[in-house]
Amino acid sequence: MTDQTAVVAPVKTLPDAQTVTAVKHWTDRLFSFRVTRPASLRFRSGEFVMIGLLGDNGKPLLRAYSIASPNWDDELEFYSIKVPDGPLTSRLQHIVPGDQIILRPKPVGTLVHDALLPGKRLWFLATGTGLAPFASLMRDPETYEKYDQVIMMHTCREAAELDYGRQLVEGLKDDELIGEMVADKLLYYPTTTREQTPLMGRITDNLTSGKVFADLGLEPMDPAHDRAMVCGSLAFNHDVKAVLEGFGLREGANSEPLEYVVEKAFVGDGI
Ligand code: FAD
Ligand code: A2P
Repeated sequence: MTDQTAVVAPVKTLPDAQTVTAVKHWTDRLFSFRVTRPASLRFRSGEFVMIGLLGDNGKPLLRAYSIASPNWDDELEFYSIKVPDGPLTSRLQHIVPGDQIILRPKPVGTLVHDALLPGKRLWFLATGTGLAPFASLMRDPETYEKYDQVIMMHTCREAAELDYGRQLVEGLKDDELIGEMVADKLLYYPTTTREQTPLMGRITDNLTSGKVFADLGLEPMDPAHDRAMVCGSLAFNHDVKAVLEGFGLREGANSEPLEYVVEKAFVGDGI
């Protein structure tokens, strides 16, 4: 793991340019970075924006990215995959503090509190970089004001892929703003599927078998008071939706709040 930070003055030469302030590499496939935040950018925790670099043809090469920082933060944080031959991330993975990226300041998305009916327990269900919107929502006081309990289930193939989320969750307990709320309300359930760790298994299996409820001492899901937000691969989203529907939860949207909402963590090989 490498860590680069710097105090940098934003210099704007590209349209919608923001300056990279910190970069941290977690594995050879994962990194996170922070950039300056446009003064006018307002967003709801959980939303995504388009970010990118200038392509070789001089045109912006943009991709959707969940904002991983909460809406009160002075900077914006992102958590990214490195796709070796990916048009954007083959280059983005080499950014260093002081570099510029393009950020289109038009946040959108369905993983927002407004898209759910009021409830008592909120489940965040993520695989891989699908953790990013929940890295924002877990740091937002509104999450703990609205719910009695928040359960973060994150599943990756290997243990090192959980590190960004684990470090974030561990740091929350010491957070001045929400530390106390988090200590009482946030339950973290990280699992791996291909490397032996204390907690194992796919989110779908751990919900269906009841293992997660037993391990955390919780009642099974009930549409009367459980709400869920989902972010992962197409295959994961497809399968976990069926599990949630099996518990009686229905998919909502900004325009029609219900019991759960879903966002793709990336567009790729599907089901
Ligand atoms: P692309 O040509 O975009 O992708 C090449 C292939 O790489 C894809 O077909 C897929 O198989 C795989 N891939 C792409 N992204 C991922 C990923 N995140 N995890 C695993 N495999 C992947 N990516 C992030 O890293 N962090 C985010 O917060 C994030 N938020 C997103 C939010 C939304 C709503 C959507 C639709 C996508 C999001 N993505 C996120 C994916 C992102 O838009 C790009 O696909 C990714 O940065 C790779 O870009 P690329 O040009 O290098 O490769
Ligand atoms: P598994 O190792 O059993 O495939 P990926 O890297 O392929 O996107 O997967 C990230 C994590 O999501 C892995 O732990 C993987 O488990 C899990 N996963 C992949 N597809 C599904 C699915 N359809 N339902 C539940 N979990 C899934």
